[in-house]
Amino acid sequence: MTHILIIGAGRLGSSLYRALQSIGYQKVTLAGREERKAETAPVYRFEPALAEKSDWLFLAVPDDQIKPLAEQLAGLDLTGRHVVHTSGFRSSADLEPAREAGAYIGSWHPVQTFSRRFLEPSVWRGITCSYEGDPQNVDFLREMCNRLDCRLQTVTAAQKQALHLAATIAANFTVALLSWAEQILTDRQIDRRQAAEFLLPMVNRVAENFRLKPGAEILTGPAKRGDLETLRGHLNLLPPEERELYRTLTDWIAHHLPTDKPQELRRFLKSITKQDGAEK
Ligand SMILES: NC(=O)c1ccc[n+]([C@@H]2O[C@H](COP(=O)([O-])OP(=O)(O)OC[C@H]3O[C@@H](n4cnc5c(N)ncnc54)[C@H](OP(=O)(O)O)[C@@H]3O)[C@@H](O)[C@H]2O)c1
Repeated sequence: MTHILIIGAGRLGSSLYRALQSIGYQKVTLAGREERKAETAPVYRFEPALAEKSDWLFLAVPDDQIKPLAEQLAGLDLTGRHVVHTSGFRSSADLEPAREAGAYIGSWHPVQTFSRRFLEPSVWRGITCSYEGDPQNVDFLREMCNRLDCRLQTVTAAQKQALHLAATIAANFTVALLSWAEQILTDRQIDRRQAAEFLLPMVNRVAENFRLKPGAEILTGPAKRGDLETLRGHLNLLPPEERELYRTLTDWIAHHLPTDKPQELRRFLKSITKQDGAEK
């Protein structure tokens, strides 16, 4: 029976623990900095000796803790064991001390947002996990992903960094943009629930359109149409620091997506930049 040790009982580690239990892995241990009783599982204090009893180690700790933890594994005999971390940005190289101890190393990153501890196992359904590192880890991870109803995609270390950047822009900046849109409405006495009713059907439709077609084919709105006076009206509603963000995003559209009046749009954006610069 495969013994799995998850180090880091935070949002991802605890959700992975719950998911692995739900699909029938029977020897899964969750460990953290301190022993405690979490919602649904005991969390053991991590001691390097725990690692020697495990076939698989998942390091689900903050990125800057991966190397120090790997160094704690250096003096052990990990021959034939498997050590992966779950960071989106760091490569398997952070686990080099574990390789020197005899382990196969890798970085395995579920491209999903785990916003709470012990999330329900359905959070894994349909997602893609990237993997970079020693090939000896792939078969088990693929089997595990299949059982979790998600996919495994191998990538290079450079692709992995790009993937993390892209995921951060797509997920975290979406949260920032939605919060920005909500703030604009709540500042004008449209409450959070009403804001969601106005915005979310449209946002969901955008996501669905994007699933089917590239951004170039689904963009709508004033930048797409070249409605320059409407763009000016939007900018006038915003405080200076937010004008800059609106202008920068519109500039990105002007340079990367096809619009109906590209020359006029770019000229307009230049004139706004000059005007704002002169006012500073
Ligand atoms: N959350 C996500 O959406 C997500 C998605 C994909 C990948 N990841 C990756 O998963 C990793 C963990 O992220 P997270 O969001 O789950 O972080 P988190 O919620 O902050 O959890 C990190 C956990 O690691 C524990 N920890 C820190 N240092 C430790 C050490 N030296 N030994 C043992 N445990 C230690 C912390 O313990 P304490 O409770 O004692 O502080 C905490 O419970 C990161 O590499 C992140 O990039 C996260």
